[in-house]
Amino acid sequence: MALLVYGANGYTGELVARRAAAAGVPALLAGRNANAVSALAAELDRDHRAFALDDPAALDRALSGVTVVLNCAGPFSRTAAPLVAACLRRRAHYLDITGEIDVLEALAARDAEARAAGVALLPGAGFDVVPSDCLAAHVRRRLPSATHLVIAFSAGTRMSRGTALTSIENAHRGGLVRRGGDLVSVPSGWRSRRIDFGPELGARTAITIPWGDVATAFRTTGIPNIEVYVAVPLAVRVALRAARALAPLLAAGAVKSALEKRIRRGPAGPTTAERAQRASHLWAEARDAAGQIAVARLRTPESYELTSMTALDLATRALRGELAGGFQTPARACGPDFILAFPGTERVDVD
Ligand SMILES: NC(=O)c1ccc[n+]([C@@H]2O[C@H](COP(=O)([O-])OP(=O)(O)OC[C@H]3O[C@@H](n4cnc5c(N)ncnc54)[C@H](OP(=O)(O)O)[C@@H]3O)[C@@H](O)[C@H]2O)c1
Repeated sequence: MALLVYGANGYTGELVARRAAAAGVPALLAGRNANAVSALAAELDRDHRAFALDDPAALDRALSGVTVVLNCAGPFSRTAAPLVAACLRRRAHYLDITGEIDVLEALAARDAEARAAGVALLPGAGFDVVPSDCLAAHVRRRLPSATHLVIAFSAGTRMSRGTALTSIENAHRGGLVRRGGDLVSVPSGWRSRRIDFGPELGARTAITIPWGDVATAFRTTGIPNIEVYVAVPLAVRVALRAARALAPLLAAGAVKSALEKRIRRGPAGPTTAERAQRASHLWAEARDAAGQIAVARLRTPESYELTSMTALDLATRALRGELAGGFQTPARACGPDFILAFPGTERVDVD
């Protein structure tokens, strides 16, 4: 029985690895950078495996004896497919911390195959989408007749380098919402809305964002119309509108690589003090055809801190054999109240 954390030398992977070591979880640390992974493993007194993802036979050898893979290496558009394929071959459960809609949809499409293999596929095991998925399931539980779901969040922290690099991968593609059960393309920052995040944060203007829940909350709740909003300052809203005209430039290699270079020169992610001091806020509204609504708010620890908590918790559940085979969302696997088990988390029904 072994848990392998892939991408353990990345900003978020290292948070997970340190949390696993502190909790005494027997995790194997892995990644493609042998020096970085072995140094971290030596410091945390853990075993390590160094391998890239481009050779299926080498991947199969690397997963020998592994029962659960927690993939923290992103962009997941590059890492999920080979690791999922290897997990299905080796009968190991697969979890990751992606919020990339294409990746979530691709994994959902492998549901039957995963069920047949008795392998759980649980992507979105971090901030995106655990708290929002649980909140969506909660408002749906309060209004089972819901036909429309709106989720909003304020991450309350700054992006890690890896999150920023992943965001610009798809920035030129605009937005996505779910309408009538289908994914529908919309412009970036298509709609805006004032959201009351509660006494601590107050009301903020939020704009639509192509967040993972348009894939996952549909599977969790069955609600066919879903929009996700993020609270952003006015300057970002203005910049986003301007960026719509620049979308072809963002897709172009030269602009993208200039942006990537700039991001790589920046810090790896929020500091320990920032993670300890900050909090994230979420809000969700379910509405039905008769106009009835159910609204709830959720406050959580800082998003990278929360990601390390929820991803490790879900991976240890997989290790204990508690996850069913097939495509899973966090709330489908563990219920709407799963998020409330994490310290610093508080949910309030608003209406
Ligand atoms: N869902 C959430 O809430 C959430 C939270 C945190 C992070 N994330 C996502 O998680 C990912 C990692 O974020 P981070 O901040 O930890 O980034 P990071 O510090 O840049 O670390 C990225 C890790 O992924 C590895 N990697 C990248 N591309 C790879 C590839 N093609 N093959 C093998 N390994 C690869 C890197 O290996 P090298 O060191 O060898 O380059 C490194 O270990 C990002 O996609 C981010 O958006 C999601």
